[in-house]
Amino acid sequence: MIWRPFTQEKTAPPPTKIIKGEGTYLLAENGEKYLDMISSWFVNVHGHANQEIAEAIGRQAKTLEHVIFTKFSHDPAEKLINELEQVVPQKLNRYFFSDNGSTAVEVALKIAYQYFKNIGETDRSIFLSLEGGYHGDTFGAMSAAGVNSKYHATFSELFFKTIMIDVPEYYDGAASMEEKENEIIGRLEKILQEIGNKICVLILEPLLQGSFGMRLYISKFLEKLVNKVREYGILVIFDEVMTGFYRTGKMFAMDHTNVLPDFICLSKGLTGGFLPLALTVTSEKIYDAFLSEDRKKTFLHGHSYTANPIACAAACKSLEILRRKETIAKIKEITEFHKSHVIFNALKRRSIGIVTAFDVESEEKANFMIDKAWENGIFLRPLGRTVYLFPPYCVSNDDLLRTYEVINRYL
Ligand SMILES: Cc1ncc(COP(=O)(O)O)c(C=O)c1O
Repeated sequence: MIWRPFTQEKTAPPPTKIIKGEGTYLLAENGEKYLDMISSWFVNVHGHANQEIAEAIGRQAKTLEHVIFTKFSHDPAEKLINELEQVVPQKLNRYFFSDNGSTAVEVALKIAYQYFKNIGETDRSIFLSLEGGYHGDTFGAMSAAGVNSKYHATFSELFFKTIMIDVPEYYDGAASMEEKENEIIGRLEKILQEIGNKICVLILEPLLQGSFGMRLYISKFLEKLVNKVREYGILVIFDEVMTGFYRTGKMFAMDHTNVLPDFICLSKGLTGGFLPLALTVTSEKIYDAFLSEDRKKTFLHGHSYTANPIACAAACKSLEILRRKETIAKIKEITEFHKSHVIFNALKRRSIGIVTAFDVESEEKANFMIDKAWENGIFLRPLGRTVYLFPPYCVSNDDLLRTYEVINRYL
C-alpha cells in the first residue's frame, strides 16, 4: 500500500486517480478534468505531457539510459551545461549534478562548509538563513530552514546551528519597508560583529519564499543582506529551486537584483516536470579550493543517478522551449493578467511573474476555498492561510479567468 507525502492518511480523502495529463489539465479515471493551477508542486513549467519533451526522452532512452558519471561523461549532460552557460551568469561556471531540490541544497551547504575547511578557516560551522524559508526535507535542508519551520519541528533537536534573519514582507499597497529593513540589517550587523567569522554561509530563496506562503520581499533588501554578509567573508546560496526558469518573470529571481551569489540551486522546472534532476552551480574560486593531492579535500558526495542522460535530454528540450519568443511572450502575458485582475476581499495580495497569492482570515477559510475550487474542476493547494496560483506557461487566458471567477465567487 502507498504512503503519500505531506498527507495525514487518517483524515485525507483517498487519492484521485489521474490517467492522463494534457497541458494545464489532468484527466481523472472518474471522467473528471482538473486544471492544475499549481504546476504539480511547481514542476511542470510547460504543462503536462509536452510532446516535444516526451519525444526527446524517448530518443535518449533508446540510445543511452544511464552511465556512472565519474569516469564517464555524455552528450546530454554536456549539452545541458552548454545551454545553461548561455543563461547563468559567467561567474557561476561549475555545475554539480544531483537528483532533486533537497539534494541541490544539501550539496551547496556541504560544499560551502567544506570550502572553509579546505582553505583552513576551520571555525566556520554556523549557518544563516531567512525566517520562513523552505529548502527541502533532508536533514541539511531542514536545518537550514531553522527550528521555527512549521514543517520540520519534530526533528529540530537534531539540526545544526542556523541563525535566522527576519524578512520584511512585501505585498500590494504595503508601506515602505525601509525602516524595518534597516532594523533587520542592524540586528544582523551586531551578530556578525560578534560571530561573523564563525559563519560559513547564508542560504535564502531569492525574492519569493514559496512553501512558507508565497511571501515576497524586495530586491533592495536582498542586496543589502548579501552585501552585509560578504563584508564578513560569508558565502551566499540562492535556492532557485522554485523561482528558477521564469517563475518570477525572469530566467532566475537573481536576475532582478544587482548581486550574485556563490551558489545557485536548480531543480523542479529544470526538466519541465518530466524527471528528477538538480544542479548546484558555483564559481571557479570555490571549485579551486577542492583541487589538491590531499584526498580529504575532495568533495566526496554523489548520487546513483547523477546526470542521468534521459533527464538531461528532457532538460535540454525544456530549456529550448523556455527560451522561445512565444514562451517568453506568454510568461509576460500571464504576469500582466495577474496584475490586472482584481481578487476582491483578498488580504495581502502579491504577485511576481506567473505567481500570484493572497491570504484569507484563517486556514479553515483557505481550505474552504480550495474545496470549492476542486468542486469547480480547479486544483489548488493552500499554504496555511495563503491561496496561490502557480500555473504552467501553457495556461490559457480563459482558464485563468475561470479561476479568478471561482475564487471571487467564494471569497
Ligand atoms: C525553494 C525550494 N527549495 C528546495 C525544495 C525541495 O525540493 P524537492 O522537493 O525537489 O526536494 C523546494 C520544494 O518545494 C523548494 O520550494
